[in-house]
Amino acid sequence: MSTRQGSGEPQLIFNVAHGGKLEGTVKVPGDKSMSHRSIMFGGIAEGTTEISGFLEGEDCLRTLDAFEAMGVRIERSTGGQVTIHGQGTHALTPAPQAIDLGNSGTGMRLMTGLLAGIGLPATLTGDASLSVRPMRRITDPLAQMGALIRAEEGGTPPLRISADQPLSAIDYVCPMASAQVKSAVLLAGLHARGTTRVTEPDITRDHTERMLQGFGVEVETGHLTAAIKGGQTLQGTRIDVPGDISSSAFFLVGAAMTPGSSLVLENVGINPTRTGVIDILRLMGADIQIQNSRETGGEPVADLLVTGTQLKGIEVPESLVSLAIDEFPAIFVAAACATGTTVVTGAEELRVKETDRIAVMADGLKILGVDIVATDDGARIVGGPIQGGTVDSVGDHRTAMAFSMAALRATGTITIIDCENVNTSFPNYAGIASAAGLRVTSTQSAAQGKTQGTS
Ligand code: S3P
Repeated sequence: MSTRQGSGEPQLIFNVAHGGKLEGTVKVPGDKSMSHRSIMFGGIAEGTTEISGFLEGEDCLRTLDAFEAMGVRIERSTGGQVTIHGQGTHALTPAPQAIDLGNSGTGMRLMTGLLAGIGLPATLTGDASLSVRPMRRITDPLAQMGALIRAEEGGTPPLRISADQPLSAIDYVCPMASAQVKSAVLLAGLHARGTTRVTEPDITRDHTERMLQGFGVEVETGHLTAAIKGGQTLQGTRIDVPGDISSSAFFLVGAAMTPGSSLVLENVGINPTRTGVIDILRLMGADIQIQNSRETGGEPVADLLVTGTQLKGIEVPESLVSLAIDEFPAIFVAAACATGTTVVTGAEELRVKETDRIAVMADGLKILGVDIVATDDGARIVGGPIQGGTVDSVGDHRTAMAFSMAALRATGTITIIDCENVNTSFPNYAGIASAAGLRVTSTQSAAQGKTQGTS
């Protein structure tokens, strides 16, 4: 799965000189999952929703554009302040054109459930990566509810949603641990007849459930279940989006595995359905302290103090996999720098992310001299020396940022190609990382004769 740009397109490249350490204070951008949801829920709510800390990355901006295209008035000011003038679902109008959700699986899967439930026709498309990602995982349960959604033959986008309504509630046992599937079904259930219930095999992020409650919706939650009664309306509210723990993960790993580092990550969301990366790194011997714990808008938030040390390899408990699903590219790098062997199992979902993250990380780390064997559901990584080299992120924001941190422990420069999509979740990553001590510069490839450093 690649978002590879056509030849002749300029490409963003990270050059990361080896060595250094991470120090000082970093404020990572807003949480991507919450930012998407804040627009979607504010867009269907009645009344005004004020958002602060909104992630102005490509993915969430596509969701924002989509709601504007469906007739919602949204005001944006600098620094992640967004005001949505919601008028309820009845004021939504079909977008005049296909809605392009770019690289975003969250945008596509959640909006499909939401729009199918409302009965608003739409065609949802995406970039080269999103266009080959599996959508039957949502279209199957939504079809059981009565939705009419046409996909391509392989079950992939574009998705064409027809205006059939109302849907009927289902009791859905989800075959994979996926917050996107859970959320798509629950959001369809918001407008279905009866009570829709989703049971998942493992705990996944619960931002949908928490944020809907913030909009005044009753959601019944159990250990592995969530249920929603159809016919409820949302009331506009205030949402403070904390820093994204998934964006923090690169800094957590970089600082934790580099002796001499001491870094504070400010205002990070530490919802327990997202903190698997902290638990995994601590099992590897990382020194991470949680400070100033507080709660903002129904979500726990804290500052994280990380002190560098030599990590050790572990068998990653499968119970932590779904709680750290986006952090494995960074965890693979931590494992490559640790003493001993790290084994990851039960993580087959990594193969259907923006790229096949098991393959992309294994290919790149091998180039850097790491002893890594990819398996169907994870990898076996033997820690050791890391050499410099050129690796391909294959257009995946998280693999690009993960490889960049490996340079802290490498013996030569690491060059990472195809980094454009870092902007989907982490605008100005290179600038923020270099201020913290990573020796990174970003360059546009000379394909159009243009070369420009940004940090
Ligand atoms: C997300 C859920 C996860 C995660 C993605 C964001 C969400 O995907 O990988 O980055 O916001 O619900 P899955 O639900 O497919 O695991």
